[in-house]
Amino acid sequence: MSIHKAALLAVACGVASAIELTVSSSGGNASSPLLYGFIFEDINHSGDGVLHGNLLQNNGFQGNSPNLTAWSAVGGAEIAQDSSNPLTDAITSTLSITGTSGTIGASNAGYVSIRVTPNEYANYFWVKGTYEGNITVSLVDSDDTVLGSTGVPVSSNSSAFSYYETSFSAVESTTGNSSWHFTFDAATATDGGLNLGLPQLFPPTFHNRKNGLNAEVAEVLDSAKGSFLRFPGGNNLEGTSVENRWTWNNTIGPVEDRPGRQGNWGYPTTDAIGLVEFLLWCQDMGLTPLLAVWDGLTVGGGTTTDDALQPFVNDALNELEYLMGDTSTTWGALRASHGYPDPFDIPYVEIGNEDFLNNGLETYQDRFNLFYDAFHQAYPNITIVASTSGLAETGCSGTECGIDISTGVLQDVHQYLPPKDLIAKFNFFDNVDRNAPILVGEYASTTFDNGSTTYFPTMAGSTAEAVYMIGMERNSDVVKMSCFAPILEHFDMAQWSPDAVGYDAANGVTRSTSWFVQQLFSANRGDTILPVESDSGFGPAYWVASSAGNTNFVKLANYGDASQTISINIDGKTTATLTQLSGGQEDSNTPGEENVQPVVTAIDGNGTFSFSLPAWSVSVLVAQ
Ligand code: AHR
Repeated sequence: MSIHKAALLAVACGVASAIELTVSSSGGNASSPLLYGFIFEDINHSGDGVLHGNLLQNNGFQGNSPNLTAWSAVGGAEIAQDSSNPLTDAITSTLSITGTSGTIGASNAGYVSIRVTPNEYANYFWVKGTYEGNITVSLVDSDDTVLGSTGVPVSSNSSAFSYYETSFSAVESTTGNSSWHFTFDAATATDGGLNLGLPQLFPPTFHNRKNGLNAEVAEVLDSAKGSFLRFPGGNNLEGTSVENRWTWNNTIGPVEDRPGRQGNWGYPTTDAIGLVEFLLWCQDMGLTPLLAVWDGLTVGGGTTTDDALQPFVNDALNELEYLMGDTSTTWGALRASHGYPDPFDIPYVEIGNEDFLNNGLETYQDRFNLFYDAFHQAYPNITIVASTSGLAETGCSGTECGIDISTGVLQDVHQYLPPKDLIAKFNFFDNVDRNAPILVGEYASTTFDNGSTTYFPTMAGSTAEAVYMIGMERNSDVVKMSCFAPILEHFDMAQWSPDAVGYDAANGVTRSTSWFVQQLFSANRGDTILPVESDSGFGPAYWVASSAGNTNFVKLANYGDASQTISINIDGKTTATLTQLSGGQEDSNTPGEENVQPVVTAIDGNGTFSFSLPAWSVSVLVAQ
């Protein structure tokens, strides 16, 4: 009797039988070194409000109808959005603060509130109006406690804006509800008030970059040891109209020269995380850039095609020259003038986003070819990614999609599904064309099985994602890259649920069960996927084994409500670390409460490691 049949018989007789796996010490397929990475677009205030360091909302009055969002008057002042005193051609309004006596000013509530922790806070702002004296910048708790403050000697006039930088250290907020205050003596402002231009407030930034990422958030992302970054979207690349698309050259240079735009997700974006900031982010986290360019498709605003598209192809070539050209080129010289003389490397470029939606398929073949030919001629080493795939579920087959996969083009697959449907996709990648490399550019368990909304990931959804990822990793000769989406949300300002990591002012970062799965899978990677012999079929337990040098990795998921016992034979290995994430089927972390966290144990084995897989669990065994 085969071991598989023995196991089936034991189950039929009601005897709980252990699953036995034997990991081969030879053979297998090379695993893509870029298998796990990130997609980032500004959705859920993930950029302005979470990942970007600046904590002040509506500082540049950008977007369609900024008005006084986030601003309040202090001390009897009158405040107004003032378009007659623009800071620059891009920042076309500043805040007018007027009043006749006493200390007056304005406060900014940030993105719902400002998170204040014991740290140094950098302040940047412009002032216009006659003034010789101190102004004060401070962080104030909702109970009026001043958490940090400093005076700034200002000597300004009414003919031009003057720029100031200062910093102060703050103590922790006790209310979780703080605001930034800018105050001055009304009597000293002899024009009757002052104009405040583009104020910015930064806590410590990742790698201490100016205009950098919020270190508290970026360090969490960095902990996953991802290997690529797909940017800048997502729908937010596409725009709701041609004019409203993500326009790369509006996102470069000093922030005061970036007009921002009304993003695709219902709020203004400042573009302070702009094209160069994405590349610096890649540098600082060791990520390979995957740049998506606008290809004529908008979300609900029509499609630009044929001759009308050619200027946008040229514009994308300019974008690539800005990033990769040397300083003798027009756009490379502009990059150098922005402080970056060394060219960046862009090995992957995606043409558009989700061209299988919004009637994109009708014209994608022609649009794709226009971009492909231009890019391939100018940069033959760039790998091009198609935003459609030839897989049946995207509604077209390879040639209908216009994608000539023989050229090495990657196809972008997106799968947002309820847990049971992700489980059904476990073997999806077993059956794809081995010569057609794939980017899984967005995926997640998005709802409960009954279709109701999952607000923050649950153990059932995260375990289903792990099963799907095991399916990808087993096929990581053809699945070259994958990224969960969306990665970040502001808990109080989100449009899309669920997301992997949440943030709010009171709690900072909260990691979801899905985040922990991403981190476990990405941070524990082999370079070779090893064959595994088993005495049981897949389900409810799933597994994949890999190795890197002398280290073996076995990833496992138990998508079921009964615990499973498992024995894993790995020849020659005696010690291992087992990391397990488990909880009830609907268990979910909540803001500030990471109740479900991975638990790490050391286990000994003499070539065999035996342990249990709890119900609804994800495990990683690392054997030395
Ligand atoms: O990740 C959220 C959205 O899902 C992306 O913007 C889009 O590409 C997809 O439809």
